[in-house]
Amino acid sequence: MGIALHIKKLAGYVPGEQPRSKNVVKLNTNENPYPPSPKCTAVLSSFDLDDLRRYPDPNFTTLAKAIADENGTTSDRVFVGNGSDEILALAARVFVEDDESIGSLDPSYTLYKTLAAIRDVKWVGVGRAADDVRRASAALAECRKSNISLFLWTNPNAPTGELTEPKTIAAFAKKFKGVVIVDEAYADFARSNCMSLATAPRNRNVIVMRTFSKSYSLAGLRVGYCVGPKDLIDALYKAKPSYNVDAVAQAVALAAFKDGAYHRKTVAKVVKTRTAFEKVLAKRGWDVIKSESNFVFAKPPAGTAAKDVFSYLKGRDIYVRYFPGPLTGDRLRITIGTDRQMKTLLEALDDRFRR
Ligand SMILES: Cc1ncc(COP(=O)(O)O)c(C=O)c1O
Repeated sequence: MGIALHIKKLAGYVPGEQPRSKNVVKLNTNENPYPPSPKCTAVLSSFDLDDLRRYPDPNFTTLAKAIADENGTTSDRVFVGNGSDEILALAARVFVEDDESIGSLDPSYTLYKTLAAIRDVKWVGVGRAADDVRRASAALAECRKSNISLFLWTNPNAPTGELTEPKTIAAFAKKFKGVVIVDEAYADFARSNCMSLATAPRNRNVIVMRTFSKSYSLAGLRVGYCVGPKDLIDALYKAKPSYNVDAVAQAVALAAFKDGAYHRKTVAKVVKTRTAFEKVLAKRGWDVIKSESNFVFAKPPAGTAAKDVFSYLKGRDIYVRYFPGPLTGDRLRITIGTDRQMKTLLEALDDRFRR
């Protein structure tokens, strides 16, 4: 009787801080600063409470069909999760045997490591990769050596914001024996994506995963989805909790998804602010990795430690993200907020660090 040993040893995933006060500048968890589509408000205010008396559609039929139609594929190639985090947790169970491992870029989304530990398998980081075919083939060699059966390729990557071109991922997947999940949580902010790899009729092992949490401004709703070969999608269905996406979430996500014009407008605003912010940070001597996402990963000028900037900003109620460690500890990940929020951040930096 008791707790499994590997869970006893587990540190557990620590998500970014969610301060309760609304009077903070919150640039630490890559949420969208703009509200969700007004179509979501309409759905919520007219939601029939009687629909909550019954269980929701276990197969999210209408939402899956809308996603399939938009991507020129069929519903049987679409799966919806309680956030894309749930899809990742299911994938760790479904696509990995006890003696296999989970691989990803490094640094990347830190949850992957925790999911491997919960599953009691090894996590293997294969380096930064980005758009470098040579490094991608080195990653492939590492996958073979470490018996990796599930590769989680974050694209654009987090926390770096770098984009790998689809052709590089396609070449990797072609040679990789296991399942590749391209985690496209931030792809709507990027110039390209891998969806056509997932919908290609001959695709055998690429799943592309998206979320409503970032570009759709619905992190609180908990809806993510993925598209891939039917047999892999079927496997996710088999392992999922019966009613994993609640009725309100299905309806609100559908409304947001169908409001393409609003979505494009919001994404364009974030990208415009990001481009301007990258320039002003660079002008102040920060080393900014060119981002294809809704955040930047930047290193303060020489003589200023990222950790100190993080603590100073927190003291001024400005939350950014600091990831300690040799690969990430010299930078801060700063979510793109409104122009006004970015100005507040820059003014605070200038107060303390501008010479
Ligand atoms: C790379 C990446 N994948 C997945 C997620 C999880 O998204 P969701 O809110 O859909 O669970 C995040 C959240 O920050 C992320 O950064």
